[in-house]
Amino acid sequence: MWQSYYCVTRIEEALELLAEHGAQARIVAGATDLILELERGVRKGVETLIDITRVPCLDEIVMDEDEVIHLGPLVTHNQCIASKLVVERLFPLAQAAWSVGAPQIRNRGTVAGNLITASPANDTITPLMALGASVRLSSTRGSRVAPLKDFFLGVRRTALQPDEMLVDIAVPALKSNQRGMFYKLALRRAQAISVVNAAVVLTFDGEAAAVGAQSKVTSAAITLGSVAPTIVRAPDAENYLAGKTLTDEVILEAAVLAKRAAHPIDDIRGTAVYRDEMVRVCVKRCLAGIHAGAERDGFPTDPVLLRGTEKVDLAQRLPERSLHQPGSPIVTRINGKEYTFNSGQNKTLLRLLREEAGLTGTKEGCAEGECGACTVYLDGQAVMSCLVPATRAHGAEITTIEGIAHDGQLHPVQQAFIEEGAVQCGYCTPGFIMSAVKLLEEKPHPSEAEIKVSITGNLCRCTGYYKIVQAIEKASMSMTEAPNG
Ligand SMILES: Cc1cc2nc3c(=O)[nH]c(=O)nc-3n(C[C@H](O)[C@H](O)[C@H](O)COP(=O)(O)OP(=O)(O)OC[C@H]3O[C@@H](n4cnc5c(N)ncnc54)[C@H](O)[C@@H]3O)c2cc1C
Ligand code: FES
Ligand code: FES
Repeated sequence: MWQSYYCVTRIEEALELLAEHGAQARIVAGATDLILELERGVRKGVETLIDITRVPCLDEIVMDEDEVIHLGPLVTHNQCIASKLVVERLFPLAQAAWSVGAPQIRNRGTVAGNLITASPANDTITPLMALGASVRLSSTRGSRVAPLKDFFLGVRRTALQPDEMLVDIAVPALKSNQRGMFYKLALRRAQAISVVNAAVVLTFDGEAAAVGAQSKVTSAAITLGSVAPTIVRAPDAENYLAGKTLTDEVILEAAVLAKRAAHPIDDIRGTAVYRDEMVRVCVKRCLAGIHAGAERDGFPTDPVLLRGTEKVDLAQRLPERSLHQPGSPIVTRINGKEYTFNSGQNKTLLRLLREEAGLTGTKEGCAEGECGACTVYLDGQAVMSCLVPATRAHGAEITTIEGIAHDGQLHPVQQAFIEEGAVQCGYCTPGFIMSAVKLLEEKPHPSEAEIKVSITGNLCRCTGYYKIVQAIEKASMSMTEAPNG
């Protein structure tokens, strides 16, 4: 899929490589989009990948003295969900991040990657645009800031130049008199692309945003996703709301006016007519949610992340830049044992594990990040190994299903799967077990709802999920009852 794979340790190294290779090179962050694009031939001529995941401090979320929140280019969707700052001050972004894919995707996928892929259905663009975000783009030529409204040029087209790297996403934090909400309509509750999504940010008259009271809207930002070639604003609805107090009639009229900004198409997820009507519904739900003070309802206070309890210092694991070409070694630890691979450099991690390491417990169901059969732990986090470049394993720690049992004893989750009849097929079971083990590491006593969230990235097409949920409940009980549990 690629010829050369660099793991860089400084931004300057990435910029020099981009300057040298131009359009033949791409930055790799979580690779959840890039691997599929390369496999499907969308990015023709790309020969060099520049992995930035070992550059220190790129995953930070900080607020500056002007109350602007900065997201580094490696901030993942799961980091947004887990960040108190994002949840408190950029709530629509936290909601959008929570709606992305499934936990394994959210552990790898970054907000920056979501912006640069620039699909009109990408979820984080809509709230970031409503919140007035901008991106900083750097190259060896210098650095520039682009407001998101100018960054998107068309379907999957942005103003990013081939030698530029996105180094910062800057978002003004919501003030005490501002409220916001994101709403996504999709065909399923997880692992589903937006049919329509909307974000609303309202600024109210006065110091604090009074809920249900007579406070006036002074300005509104309404953005719509999946209804035009790029995310669009709804100026007619925004202008109408300015100076109004929210009432049922005002909300209804603004929602109808928002439809004027939408120019949807028919596709497999919905017709243009349906999408057009759903713009009204989504905008109305956002406005009504804010009006009722209910925009945070249903957002988890302690979300299921499947990223484990230990933070791994990736920079420490690989202190120096490395270049991987066919033949150069990948040195990694799998299930506590060191491996050196001299082939398989341009495969996925899934294929490296199965074809080079002979660890065939990890399965390939879809090779598109959809089914979870390939779930492994990469540096402690549950990920879809079909979307991880094999070379990312260099200097990393991997756990596969073969590493779950210890001292000849099945893990309590494996045991419970047998006892509850949850081993429904050989394809999906390893992935389900990997997700369940990680859940119980994070939350020894998960609720039924949390168990369900933990397996949203694992699909069964044969039987269903009842026995699987029961098995995870049973394992949780047996682990917490055990003397050393
Ligand atoms: C099964 C599945 C479900 C998904 N569900 C959703 C969903 O519900 N909603 C949604 O919005 N998305 C979804 N996605 C899309 C995807 O996960 C996101 O777009 C993700 O955020 C991309 O981030 P990444 O780090 O994986 O990007 P990568 O794949 O690493 O990169 C994506 C693009 O951005 C470029 N890039 C990345 N970082 C930089 C940088 N700092 N500077 C310059 N270029 C850069 C890369 O070169 C590449 O072109 C899904 C994907 C899969 C596979
Ligand atoms: S998610 Fe990787 S094989 Fe299906
Ligand atoms: S468990 Fe594999 S398809 Fe149902």
